[in-house]
Amino acid sequence: MTELKPPYLAFDPATRRLRLDPHEPAFFQDPYEAYAYLHGASSAIFWEEFGFWCFGGFDDVNRLLRDRRFGRQNPAGIPDSRGIGQDRTHLSAFDGIEANSMLELEPPVHTRLRTLVNRAFVSRQVERLRPRVEALANELIDRFEPGEVDLLPAFAAPLPITIIAEMLGVRVDMGPQLLDWSHRMVAMYMHGRTRETEDTANRAARDFSNFLRGYVAERRKRPGEDLLSLLIAAQEDGQKLSEDELVSSAILLLNAGHEATVHQTGNAVRSILAQGGDPRRFFASPEATAATVEECLRFDAPLHMFTRYAYQEVEAGPGIIVGPGETIGLLLGMANRDPVAFTEPLAFRPDRADQKNLSFGAGIHFCIGAPLARLELQVSLKTLFERLPQLHLAEQPRFRDSYHFHGLETLAVGF
Ligand code: HEM
Repeated sequence: MTELKPPYLAFDPATRRLRLDPHEPAFFQDPYEAYAYLHGASSAIFWEEFGFWCFGGFDDVNRLLRDRRFGRQNPAGIPDSRGIGQDRTHLSAFDGIEANSMLELEPPVHTRLRTLVNRAFVSRQVERLRPRVEALANELIDRFEPGEVDLLPAFAAPLPITIIAEMLGVRVDMGPQLLDWSHRMVAMYMHGRTRETEDTANRAARDFSNFLRGYVAERRKRPGEDLLSLLIAAQEDGQKLSEDELVSSAILLLNAGHEATVHQTGNAVRSILAQGGDPRRFFASPEATAATVEECLRFDAPLHMFTRYAYQEVEAGPGIIVGPGETIGLLLGMANRDPVAFTEPLAFRPDRADQKNLSFGAGIHFCIGAPLARLELQVSLKTLFERLPQLHLAEQPRFRDSYHFHGLETLAVGF
């Protein structure tokens, strides 16, 4: 069935060109209405506001993320070259971090950095954190003001930032400062950023990196059991990691280690509450809890678009030729609701037989933190709803005006 066209977008089926402002409130409040229409019209579209071809079919996104003729590293060697103007001197600290970040690199450097960090994030290691995550979730709930609370600052944010800071061995009371640096840096990836966004991001990058350099110097003198000490040991043992790579990896883990999890927690609570009834039914067994978290990831993912550069001329989809250096967009949130890949894609059904999602990406950049994020979501959501089964929305939550990072402004709940 072809869905009705939302009034705020224009789509030409002949050229597959889409006009849709990602800052349109009706869109960022509910992108799934537009996705449903586009799935019926064409899941490959030239999105004019971004200026590149985007793909929203599940198989296309899955295939293109794994296609090594595309990659995240800018072929011109300039990280995040989609900047304002050509002069990037005001972004030197930010660029310095990206230039050494595995997320922005391709093999062989990507493989070396990822292999070093990955050891700490494999499921077996992460599973050992379960009791700590459980204790922390309970502590945070104990601290809720009676009656009503905004779950984002009181629960969704402090949990992942504390866990990743503890893993790395960074002082946990730095949490608010880390959050602030991180928010300023990730603003660089939003559509329509300004010179002020860039200046602020660069200052945050400089301060964050100075802080970590000081911290690394301290840890060198007094190593601990933490990930930073492990990475320092790897650096000292045969130069596997330069000082800049060490600092970039720590910043990437601290930022990526909470930004998406915070939003996914908020989106998941919202999705579960929207089902009505006793929320504890979604957490009746470890298997049910795991399935609920997978469905939350599919149903309302926090990251909706990632891009890739083409390294050669490629036919990315039927009749869509992308030249070397050109960008394509991969719409993870749209792929997760593809009617070709899912029966009843719009329904929240943790018991679905076709359970899968692209929320953590695919291919060589597949989220390194997926086992940790899954564990945090399973433990935090189960603890929250088991302790507060009467939890309900105190007001209708609204999404922030940031299409890429699909998350709520606030999540006021009563219990
Ligand atoms: C629900 C929570 C999360 C979601 C939805 C998510 C999603 C993603 C996605 C989609 C990518 C791939 C980007 C691309 O292909 O261009 C990615 C990469 C990455 N994520 Fe996550 N992430 C989450 C939590 C975490 C956590 C907790 C950590 C940290 C420990 C983390 C660390 C990373 C890193 C380091 C990469 C880069 C991997 C690489 O380039 O090889 N993420 N994440």
